[in-house]
Amino acid sequence: MNDISKNSKTDRAVDVVIMAAGKGTRMKSKLPKVLHRLAGRALLQHVVDTAAALAARQVVIITGHGAIEVEAALADKTGATARFDINFVRQEPQLGTGHAMQQAVPVLKDDGMVVVLSGDVPLTQADTLQQLIAASAGQQLALLTIELTDPTGYGRIVRQGEVVQAIVEQKDATVQQRELCEVYSGIMAVPAVHLKKWLARLDNQNAQGEYYLTDIVKFAVADGVPVVAHKITDAVQVAGVNSPVQLAELERAFQLRNAVQLMEQGVRLADPARLDVRGNLQCAPDVSIDVNCVFEGQVTLGEGVKIGANCVIANASIAAGAVIHPFTHIEGGKPGSKDFIEVGEGALIGPFARLRPGAKLGAEVHIGNFVEVKNSTLAKGAKANHLAYLGDATVGERVNFGAGSITANYDGAFKHRTVIEADVHIGSNCVLIAPVTLGAGGTVGGGSTITKDTPPDALSVARGKQVSIANWKRPSK
Ligand code: UD1
Ligand code: CA
Repeated sequence: MNDISKNSKTDRAVDVVIMAAGKGTRMKSKLPKVLHRLAGRALLQHVVDTAAALAARQVVIITGHGAIEVEAALADKTGATARFDINFVRQEPQLGTGHAMQQAVPVLKDDGMVVVLSGDVPLTQADTLQQLIAASAGQQLALLTIELTDPTGYGRIVRQGEVVQAIVEQKDATVQQRELCEVYSGIMAVPAVHLKKWLARLDNQNAQGEYYLTDIVKFAVADGVPVVAHKITDAVQVAGVNSPVQLAELERAFQLRNAVQLMEQGVRLADPARLDVRGNLQCAPDVSIDVNCVFEGQVTLGEGVKIGANCVIANASIAAGAVIHPFTHIEGGKPGSKDFIEVGEGALIGPFARLRPGAKLGAEVHIGNFVEVKNSTLAKGAKANHLAYLGDATVGERVNFGAGSITANYDGAFKHRTVIEADVHIGSNCVLIAPVTLGAGGTVGGGSTITKDTPPDALSVARGKQVSIANWKRPSK
């Protein structure tokens, strides 16, 4: 941040410690609390990603309840997480936040600025933490605080005049102290040298018999180290998740902020309250998105793309001018893999279409209602408009794939490819038994079951010949 003064002590490396050993009883779930998902990412992953945005030198995660699961979930280092080492430290048993921090001491270097975060507080912004770090000026204890209309349960910031003297926990507070509305958020920045010294002095002589990290404020005051409170007003940034209700509240707050950002970039949302982005949604100009759409993984929408109501779209790139009609499900695989989905310029998809992993659709392709496409390439202008299945198929330009037709790609053990060359017309209700190649310009008569390659430009028909028996009498009772 540019507001950090050029004092050399302010250039300390940032070491982030994330407390995540608590039980999370109120979630009433077998899953450790910090692994519950917000916007598609584990709560703890949000915090780790924030540490990445701070360019932290190291991240220490204190685990306890569900440690094995938590460590396994985070050990799979992807994306932003890959930039630093994550050190896991176990806290067994859990004797308080001060005790938790004591476990981290052996892995913390003396020259760093330690930023203390909680694994269940997912929406703190990196900017806010940069300001907190700046407030510590490389040598002071900086507390992130907020005024709450109902401060019940939180540690209160006790000041003498303006000067911070202590944090007093709810259960230890006097009646007057309980009237104080400025609370400690659970987030602080503190030079490692001071932190280590103060942690060694903690005791558990308090109402809860716990080692309180918050007691270090008293030691700072006693040692003449200034304590600064960086007070913010945005409660979402310090809100913790303790229950499914709070998780849902933060999810909505996150989604609304994200929706507002998209609209500020020019995306037209029918209703910002009815959009869920669980990953990364990139939009070119003039994109419009109708209500109740969910985007997952990496989704890119080109200029002028229109997304109809009630679509679920994961891992796909949708090119300019394409229209995705309502109730379409697009389910691609990881970006960069063959399963990532591509939809070409001006394509029309849906309503009620299903694109599965590996669907690669060229420009102006039409995929209509109740059409499923899996691991198939459709070249420019190919159409499958009604009730069809294209699996493991290579489809040429301008092919018309008739209503009710399917590729029979699976023999019970192996998958086989169907190749449909340019300008082929497949009638309705055909079965193309793979492996099979249909030559360019050919036509397949409706109701055919095609088991052999067809020559170019020919009409191929493979079905029982129609017979009519005159004066046929239906059976009667
Ligand atoms: C703590 C602060 C309080 C502050 C509040 C903000 C202390 C003593 N109090 O309260 O001033 O207002 O956070 O939410 O620090 N944890 C461990 N090991 C433990 C105990 C807790 O890892 O032994 C973790 C929890 O998983 C959680 C975090 O520390 O992520 C905070 O614990 P929590 O019990 O919520 O803190 P409080 O005591 O409520
Ligand atoms: Ca808490």
